[in-house]
Amino acid sequence: MFIGHIPLANRLFVAPMAGVTDRPFRQLCRQLGAGYAVSEMLTSRRDLWHSLKTSRRANHEGEAAPIAVQIAGTEPQMMADAARYNIDRGAQIIDINMGCPAKKVCQRWAGSALMQDEALALQIVEAVVAACEPQRVPVSLKMRTGWCQQQRNAVTLARGAEAAGVRMVTVHGRTREQGYRGEAEYETVAAVKAALSIPVVANGDIDSPQKARAVLAQTGADALMIGRAAQGRPWIFREIAHYLATGEYLAPPLVAEVRRLLLAHLEQHYALYGEQTGVRSARKHIGWYLAGLPGGDALRQRINGVESSVQQSRLVADYLDQLASQFDRLPDLSPSTLEAIA
Ligand SMILES: Cc1cc2nc3c(=O)[nH]c(=O)nc-3n(C[C@H](O)[C@H](O)[C@H](O)COP(=O)(O)O)c2cc1C
Repeated sequence: MFIGHIPLANRLFVAPMAGVTDRPFRQLCRQLGAGYAVSEMLTSRRDLWHSLKTSRRANHEGEAAPIAVQIAGTEPQMMADAARYNIDRGAQIIDINMGCPAKKVCQRWAGSALMQDEALALQIVEAVVAACEPQRVPVSLKMRTGWCQQQRNAVTLARGAEAAGVRMVTVHGRTREQGYRGEAEYETVAAVKAALSIPVVANGDIDSPQKARAVLAQTGADALMIGRAAQGRPWIFREIAHYLATGEYLAPPLVAEVRRLLLAHLEQHYALYGEQTGVRSARKHIGWYLAGLPGGDALRQRINGVESSVQQSRLVADYLDQLASQFDRLPDLSPSTLEAIA
């Protein structure tokens, strides 16, 4: 599969998630089978580019190609400038965010709010494509099914974006109004796929190998994008890849492998954020890894009271050593797995 002229390793993507899919997490997902990863969104506001948060997000040191950066904003020229700025810092693909429902973004009329104003949305697409094309950087677009139930305009907008030169469209099967409530629907994703000739990516609530296969079948999408289900479970990509290729479930990872992966993830995390911020922001990742594991809640509470990286990673290592003495492989007690086994 290609985005424009750029080849991808496979058709399983990790979704951009602000505050989650930073460089260490993207690298981990790719190591474990994701063929493609997009950065967390970067603001088009020039006054924020030198803030610590944005400059961390714009740093792609050591990241494997293709480097894809998502930009968010409301002004066509500012978005074009943001695209150029990120291309100068290594971006090989620029993704436009029209999917994020966050209030901060919407109050500024960005993210999925742009779907309400198709003319402005297309002006942004045109300006970004005009900035990227001379540098041979393909532009992609991430959107929802529409603003609200009565206004599901994903097909119209996606058609306009394709005509304006966008090379791939991702659709999260919810409206902006839904936020993350209810269930994702895939009829609109299928309709977008049927209407376009560029690759279309299905996104929303894909949390297991069998769900991945069902969404591919229902939408005819060229690729799948997985967000929340990869939190604390970055090996979901290889599990899905294996199932799609063979029809069989891959065994859960060895506890010893999880120990190695999680400790390496923490090291990379501390290196990016520094000791104080790193220890605090690592807590949510650790919590996701531990969710549903025996004794995981008690450990999470202890970890929340610890402020040093050495102590934090020591607690994690000791816990996983103890778990390894009881289980060879990670006990997988998620509802979808129990359902699949039943
Ligand atoms: C914590 C969090 C942060 C997110 N940040 C972004 C973002 O920066 N850009 C974006 O396009 N979507 C963002 N999303 C939406 C996801 O990319 C994805 O579309 C959504 O979570 C649905 O997929 P899932 O059900 O597989 O999680 C975010 C989602 C979450 C949960």
